[in-house]
Amino acid sequence: MMNLFRFLLATTAFLAVRLNIAHTKEWWENGNYYQIYPRSFRDSNGDGIGDLNGITERLQYLKDIGFTAAWLSPIFKSPMIDFGYDISDFYAIHSEYGTMEDFKALVARAKQLDIRIILDFVPNHTSDECEWFEKSVNREPGYEDFYVWHNGTVDANGKRQPPSNWISAFRYSAWEWNEKRQQYYLHQFAIKQADLNFRNPLVVAKMKEVMRYWLDTGISGFRIDALPFMFEKAPDANGNFLDEPVIDDVSICPDPDDWCHLNHTYTLDQPESIEMVYQWRELVEQYRKQKGGEPRVLLTEAYTTFDNLMLYYGDGERNGSMVPFNFYFMNSLKNQSTAQEIVDIISRWMNSMPDGVLANWVLGNHDNPRYSTRLGVQRADLFTILLQTLPGNAVTYYGEEICMTDGKITWEQTVDPSGCNANPSNYESYSRDPCRTPYQWDASKNAGFSDADNTWLPVAGNYRTNNALAQLRAPKSHLQIFMKLIRLRKLRSLQDGPLKIKAIGNDIIIYSREAPGDAMYVIVLNLGAREQSLNINQHFDMGRQAEVITSSLQSAYNDGDILDPSKYMAEPYVGVVLVKI
Ligand code: GLC
Repeated sequence: MMNLFRFLLATTAFLAVRLNIAHTKEWWENGNYYQIYPRSFRDSNGDGIGDLNGITERLQYLKDIGFTAAWLSPIFKSPMIDFGYDISDFYAIHSEYGTMEDFKALVARAKQLDIRIILDFVPNHTSDECEWFEKSVNREPGYEDFYVWHNGTVDANGKRQPPSNWISAFRYSAWEWNEKRQQYYLHQFAIKQADLNFRNPLVVAKMKEVMRYWLDTGISGFRIDALPFMFEKAPDANGNFLDEPVIDDVSICPDPDDWCHLNHTYTLDQPESIEMVYQWRELVEQYRKQKGGEPRVLLTEAYTTFDNLMLYYGDGERNGSMVPFNFYFMNSLKNQSTAQEIVDIISRWMNSMPDGVLANWVLGNHDNPRYSTRLGVQRADLFTILLQTLPGNAVTYYGEEICMTDGKITWEQTVDPSGCNANPSNYESYSRDPCRTPYQWDASKNAGFSDADNTWLPVAGNYRTNNALAQLRAPKSHLQIFMKLIRLRKLRSLQDGPLKIKAIGNDIIIYSREAPGDAMYVIVLNLGAREQSLNINQHFDMGRQAEVITSSLQSAYNDGDILDPSKYMAEPYVGVVLVKI
């Protein structure tokens, strides 16, 4: 089947545009970062769980589509309570995913194909099965304060209580009593995910050692997990952690066991977390100085304020993350957002970045509903076109390129701790399983993901009609559109051309990208259900003729159509990329 994939890619992936490749950039600039959720990508050994050899097998596919790099959710040894975000050995590969040899083979294959591999770095917590935790429980020298320990408090009835009212992101108290050590430990996520104590320099040093270890394997950088949680406010003069205030309007989140019930003034967004990213940036810069080679990147995961996201880039003196994931974009874009609102969201990011950094655009990941489900399948191509034609870096969650939608997962099938801690009537608001269903390769058993009779999560129901192979065969498909866009991104106008963007009425977004010496590209997105006629020349001077480069699947326009920009018809829910000819 892979040969057919290759053949189809080779024959269908041409761009009918003048080639004007941008000047040389560093590999990571204006790239397209593909997130692989290893458990769900490709199962090579028939156990129903994706693995490293499965990824290696399919790297060619990523190359053919045109991705710059793949970042992998955690592949390290883990009891899999949070599917790898609970690491028990930071130096070992998780056995269900393969061996260190398999990992080396993956990196080697990626090198051949010129695809960079980026690993997930999870500094905030370890599994309680990690050796460090056991040593800390036993108060072994050097490990006593590796985690956040506290005696707790005693209530009026003489009963032991947790040190503070802090709540886990997955519900209930963030403190767990440890019988052996006779103290509580902090876990901002699942009980089996113990928070490391980053106020301890030994922890800071240990985690830097972990980074250097993996850099030595030839990877090109890290995606860094859960940054806002890294530091907690230090205890007060009496050694107590302070309670967090309840939110002002409890009607928004009345359940006192739910994380959203509190204002996380002491457990989130402490300035030290951002400072730590600056240190890690220094580490990768130093590493390059010592060992040579190309830049190693940091991609950072922080659900935080807009201002903090800007600070993750750097504070003017020190540099931080190259790609502070733009969750502002992802979270602000709503189903009902107007054209002007979306233009404002984009412009705010573009106008607020510090000098010398690149924008980035994210619409999905393994923690959020897929954007085709969230923003409407009929508009999925429109948002793909938007994300891929904005300046800077693009981030693609596996399956977005074929417009995968969230799978339907019953309560009985739910495995995500965040879903399991809810109940049968509300789990769907919490569970992240639906966006983690196996990749839809083809129409065969389990969508070509696995030969097993049972897969760790069921394949989404629409795989027979919606899969990569079908989309490679079709003359027009989400994947064909995606491939056009990714090639387009390599052209000078799309790399260096300034963004001129505006809203027309409630539904139309129009923008141009044009660099000196290259053609003018104009993108028109109609968010609404109503067809609208438009004189594009009133906004951007496209002259008398424009050519359609690509358009949403349901559009009547075909690639290569020549049209009169002064009499343009913006079809409902359709995005179109035009070039002035
Ligand atoms: C990050 C991960 C998420 C995980 C959490 C705890 O937010 O993306 O999947 O559950 O960290 O590690």
